[in-house]
Amino acid sequence: MSRRGLSFVCQNCGAAFSRWQGKCEACGEWNTLADEAAETPAGPGRKPAKGRLFALEPLSGEAREAPRLPSGLAELDRVTGGGLVRGSVLLMAGDPGIGKSTLLIQAAAALARAGHRAVYISGEEAVAQVRLRAERLGLGTAAVELAAETAVEDIVATLSEGKTPRLIVIDSIQTMWTSAVESAPGTVTQVRGSAQALIRYAKRSGAAVILVGHVTKDGQIAGPRVVEHMVDAVLSFEGEGSHQFRILRAVKNRFGPTDEIGVFEMTGSGLRQIANPSELFLSERDLGQPGTAVFAGIEGTRPLLVEIQALVAPSSLGTPRRAVVGWDPSRLSMVLAVLEAHCGVRLGGHDVYLNVAGGLRIQEPAADLAAAAALVSSLANAPLPADAVYFGEVSLSGAIRPVAQAPARLKEAAKLGFVRAVMPEAGRPESAEAGFTISEMANLAALVAGIAADGRAKPRGKSRGQDG
Ligand code: TYD
Ligand code: MG
Repeated sequence: MSRRGLSFVCQNCGAAFSRWQGKCEACGEWNTLADEAAETPAGPGRKPAKGRLFALEPLSGEAREAPRLPSGLAELDRVTGGGLVRGSVLLMAGDPGIGKSTLLIQAAAALARAGHRAVYISGEEAVAQVRLRAERLGLGTAAVELAAETAVEDIVATLSEGKTPRLIVIDSIQTMWTSAVESAPGTVTQVRGSAQALIRYAKRSGAAVILVGHVTKDGQIAGPRVVEHMVDAVLSFEGEGSHQFRILRAVKNRFGPTDEIGVFEMTGSGLRQIANPSELFLSERDLGQPGTAVFAGIEGTRPLLVEIQALVAPSSLGTPRRAVVGWDPSRLSMVLAVLEAHCGVRLGGHDVYLNVAGGLRIQEPAADLAAAAALVSSLANAPLPADAVYFGEVSLSGAIRPVAQAPARLKEAAKLGFVRAVMPEAGRPESAEAGFTISEMANLAALVAGIAADGRAKPRGKSRGQDG
């Protein structure tokens, strides 16, 4: 079947089908298929254009470092791998209201203040609204050029006049439309077509383009998902709505690493950069309470201490609840299974809740040990030492496996006033910080036995009064 026949395109994932159906077989979403028949520009009988000749170049040619420009926001530069790359296109994805527009107007203003031409095109807000926000952020005097436009051809034509801008923000790609495609604005085809036109412009002119894309509730980049493979970098801006912290994460990056995070705080006067995030994620800590453990993690190249909270409570349900915020639910299931199978911890009749404080999302397996410690601490009603950090991967046999960058984790813990670390046997640094105690755990059972012994020593309920 020709591609032409596949005119029903899923607006969620971009899969194409030959006829309409209620459910997209590719992503499982309901009612997302739309007829985009007008997509194919080449009509029958139209001859394909004759190809233009171009020069092929050797791989061994002079490899220039991608010319970068620091954006003026150090946290943004950290995530992109050193700044905005000339001629690159970046997709900034995030939930509506998370702060994408705020972040980008701040970046544009910083660039403009450094003497570069920065253009901000809003398809969602009127110029006056953007101006108002900038004023509230104290950026009213920055020489950012604004426009409220949605027609991609007009935008490209306007920008091609005069000096090439160094940065162009398109807020958002879902609102853009191109006349090259006949389907309605907001459809996958339109988003793809508009992105293509803007990417072509970026490569031709050498300007850095940032496309804003809204994501759906389940974390998928709606519509712009289909743009992900076309752009040079995809950054995801995340955060829990009720928290002030915002994390910028690289999901894809053609010019740098994808494991760095940038940390911001949303304040009354815009996003504030957080250079030392450990302090932030520990500031709300209720250490000394049962069920709380501090995890010494690594995000990219940066050590990060975060608090893991667990609550294990007797369940009234036939199937007990397992709820996780900020961690992988399947890893929680695994840790619970290992606790049951190898450590004699019975959790079948208990509801289990696990929360990573501050709205952070942890992806490292090294958090297993801290999660297990928090769970056992809650079950045994035994507070963990408030001056200890935990890290280590738990294997299915119950052994604690070594993790990377132990010295960096220990150093960060010592810097923030912790004096103890519970960690795997291997990976101990040659010289520990002075006054720092390292407890090496060979397996999870040893950790459980230690915490349980603590819990029995204290009468239930007494521990709550300890922190006062
Ligand atoms: P915004 O950047 O408009 O989000 P997005 O473009 O991702 O949809 O940010 C919207 C939220 O940020 C809004 O709910 C209010 C909050 N905010 C502040 O708390 N302080 C500020 O200075 C600004 C500009 C916004
Ligand atoms: Mg916005």
